[in-house]
Amino acid sequence: MIVFKTCDSLRDYLSTFREESQSLGLVPTMGALHEGHLSLSKLSVRQNNLTIVSVFVNPIQFNNPADLEKYPRDLEADLDLLEPVLGFRGIVFAPSVEEMYPKQIDTQYDFGPLAEVMEGAFRPGHFNGVGIVVNRLFRIIEPDRAYFGEKDFQQLAVIRKLVELEKFGPEIIPCPIIREADGLAMSSRNQRLSAEHRAAAPVIFQALSEAARLYGRSDITDLKRQIIAMIHATKILKVEYVEFADEETLMPVYKTSWPNPVRCFIAVYADEVRLIDNLRVS
Ligand code: PAJ
Repeated sequence: MIVFKTCDSLRDYLSTFREESQSLGLVPTMGALHEGHLSLSKLSVRQNNLTIVSVFVNPIQFNNPADLEKYPRDLEADLDLLEPVLGFRGIVFAPSVEEMYPKQIDTQYDFGPLAEVMEGAFRPGHFNGVGIVVNRLFRIIEPDRAYFGEKDFQQLAVIRKLVELEKFGPEIIPCPIIREADGLAMSSRNQRLSAEHRAAAPVIFQALSEAARLYGRSDITDLKRQIIAMIHATKILKVEYVEFADEETLMPVYKTSWPNPVRCFIAVYADEVRLIDNLRVS
């Protein structure tokens, strides 16, 4: 498993690889890796001749400076986790901020309505920053496939839109959410939870499961109220939003008879740590 820190050295390496017309899989990450990230990497290793896992905490997608500052970073630990997964079938790209952004970037994407709801509404500029870094990775690496988790379901939709707008990019492969034994969706931010918040956090998945059980039986406004009450009963988690949305358009759904699959999306604050999760309910 070779580690590259510059775009030029990576490009050089990949050009010889590409001459042999082998398939290339990309797994973009911000590091602080866990089983969620590893599941994406394992799928890529199965489906491609070479897998590149990028590890880059992308400053321009953080709308909250404290969140960026406190984001966990430990490249050595990440490499230890990746080595047994990638072995000789994968490489790691871990560039610096200067390497990724040598000059000022002013791209403004218009991803349309799907980026204006939920994460788009509560984290201004976030998806634009994600779009810029992912497009840059696609252009440097030119992968055949790229792997994204359904944990960030809206991000997946934005990436598909990015490929459409740029008319450039790989096949996008969605991957299921990996959870802890108690249901909490794995996240790099879980590391930052206090013991008390960590103990309360599984209620998010319990609330989503309750939403799936009750969906279709009660009115959506009532259902939202119930879910919020369930989470607020912990006294220490604070709901930012609970939304039922069409899986494809991500537009809010207000009635239970809906022709397309519907997902419930939740964002919660555990002190200053923000957690998100989602589950299909229909
Ligand atoms: P990061 O949060 O590190 O996540 C990297 C990838 O792992 C994303 O596609 C995310 O959806 C997936 N992932 C995270 N937790 C998961 C889980 N519990 N189960 C399954 N997949 C999971 O998402 C980002 O980084 C960044 O926005 C990035 C795309 C790298 C751009 O900077």
